[in-house]
Amino acid sequence: MVTDDARGKVVVRNVTKQFDIENPDQGLAIKNVNFTVQPNEFMTIVGRSGCGKSTMLNIIAGLLNPTEGEVLIHGKRVTEPGLDRGMVFQSASLFPWLRAIENIEFGPRNIGKPRDERRALAQDLIKLVGLEGFENKYPRELSGGMQQRVAIARAMAMDPEILLMDEPFGSLDQLTREDMQRELLRIWETSRKTVIFVTHSILEAIYLSDRILVFCPHPGNVRKEFTIDLPRPRQKSSTEYMAYYEEIYENIS
Ligand SMILES: Nc1ncnc2c1ncn2[C@@H]1O[C@H](COP(=O)(O)OP(=O)(O)OP(=O)(O)O)[C@@H](O)[C@H]1O
Ligand SMILES: [Mg+2]
Repeated sequence: MVTDDARGKVVVRNVTKQFDIENPDQGLAIKNVNFTVQPNEFMTIVGRSGCGKSTMLNIIAGLLNPTEGEVLIHGKRVTEPGLDRGMVFQSASLFPWLRAIENIEFGPRNIGKPRDERRALAQDLIKLVGLEGFENKYPRELSGGMQQRVAIARAMAMDPEILLMDEPFGSLDQLTREDMQRELLRIWETSRKTVIFVTHSILEAIYLSDRILVFCPHPGNVRKEFTIDLPRPRQKSSTEYMAYYEEIYENIS
């Protein structure tokens, strides 16, 4: 039994987010959400557009305050963003005035990491996300998928215990997406992070996750939870894989 104050553990307790306080019938994004993510667990939230996935992730990130309830990270209540959490947003949100490599170095630079060290780290991350040769480009000179890969490298640069990823591969082509899925699993397996991942793709969720939460809308909440009990790397064409797919699909529809 892992206690609630364990490093990398995330506890979401009775979280409600009402965007429009004046109008209780509208703007209720999520209501009374409860779940726990264990240290080093890979957990994914799937669900239809508008069911509150980004809202949930932003609350865990400390970018939004819940109307009710609380999020505990290593046993401490979240009130603001912190270095223990790295976030990859649904659309790449790079600093437009910084080159790709400078975007990746931004965090390490802020905490005073020496120049040579942070440059070497950023260069490794550039290689990891397959952007060698593009390190000196500005975001506007990169495609959407390339910008997203810089955003992933930037989140990795601080080596956070918890990685929050909001549809990070949505704008990538299929082949790059599959490469990035494998890379993410490799990083997760070697660096032992807690990952909370959001995707529309059930197939992607099954490929990656230890556990999948299916969210339902109006108001957003956890409808069902699936533990994916398949060894990695997972074979997307296997019978067991497709059986999970069908069951999850039925619960989203
Ligand atoms: N800043 C905001 N102000 C008012 N309402 C909001 C705000 N952000 C989200 N909402 C509402 O909250 C609900 C959940 O939105 P959210 O963005 O969390 O959904 P999502 O599951 O991430 O959807 P998608 O899959 O399209 O990204 C929606 O009804 C949305 O309109
Ligand atoms: Mg979203």
